[in-house]
Amino acid sequence: MVRAVWAVLRMVSCQGAAALNLNVSGSVIDAASSFRSVHVPFRAAHSKVRHLSSAVRMPEITTDHLDKKQVQLLSEMCILIDENDSKIGADSKKNCHLNSNIDKGLLHRAFSVFIFNSEEKLLLQQRSDAKITFPGCFTNTCCSHPLHTDSELEEKEAIGVRRAAQRRLEAELGIPMAQVTPDEMTYLTRIHYKAQSDGVWGEHEIDYILFMQKVEMACLIPTM
Ligand SMILES: *[C@@H]1O[C@H](CO)[C@@H](O)[C@H](O)[C@H]1NC(C)=O
Ligand SMILES: *[C@@H]1O[C@H](CO)[C@@H](O)[C@H](O)[C@H]1NC(C)=O
Repeated sequence: MVRAVWAVLRMVSCQGAAALNLNVSGSVIDAASSFRSVHVPFRAAHSKVRHLSSAVRMPEITTDHLDKKQVQLLSEMCILIDENDSKIGADSKKNCHLNSNIDKGLLHRAFSVFIFNSEEKLLLQQRSDAKITFPGCFTNTCCSHPLHTDSELEEKEAIGVRRAAQRRLEAELGIPMAQVTPDEMTYLTRIHYKAQSDGVWGEHEIDYILFMQKVEMACLIPTM
């Protein structure tokens, strides 16, 4: 279960570090510390990433405590990329999110969607407690990965990534695909993002930032 909340985005600095004031149940939370996208300029992080072409060996990781849905998602194939976002292969979501592989330079393509309403409030979600990375954290509307499929690999005007966003907005937030078509999404930029969630799991991705404004979204009834 994810939870959706409308919040006012008060300020985004040029570094992209978001200062977000979130009013949940009458109390104001500064969500900056749990905001998932710590923006690093795309080029600046290059030197830290080593090119990885050899096969990645899997350590023994138990997923017994995860629910069935999350385990199923872990076998989806993500798009492996180099530091310049050129595709170099495919690997499972599980392998892509293990710190042991990230430490060796494994990098995949991802996206972060930000949906604003007519009042320019940003739709946030609270991540499910069942997620392997950042369970329970508040984040922007939807973050996920394009899959290694013909449709989502297509790079022209970031169409593959925008299709993936449409797919995940339905899966995570129940927004019908007809209400969030790829042509309504504006691809702004890419960021290179790396963060550990815990000792085992983490993120290392080049993240396509997608913005869209929906005047009406009757289907979506956030908790606030
Ligand atoms: C937060 O919400 C409460 C109740 O709706 C309201 O009284 C308060 O002014 C809000 N605070 C901010 C900073 O928006
Ligand atoms: C990425 O692009 C930079 C600048 O063009 C280049 O120096 C570097 O070798 C490229 N990296 C890879 C892995 O191709």
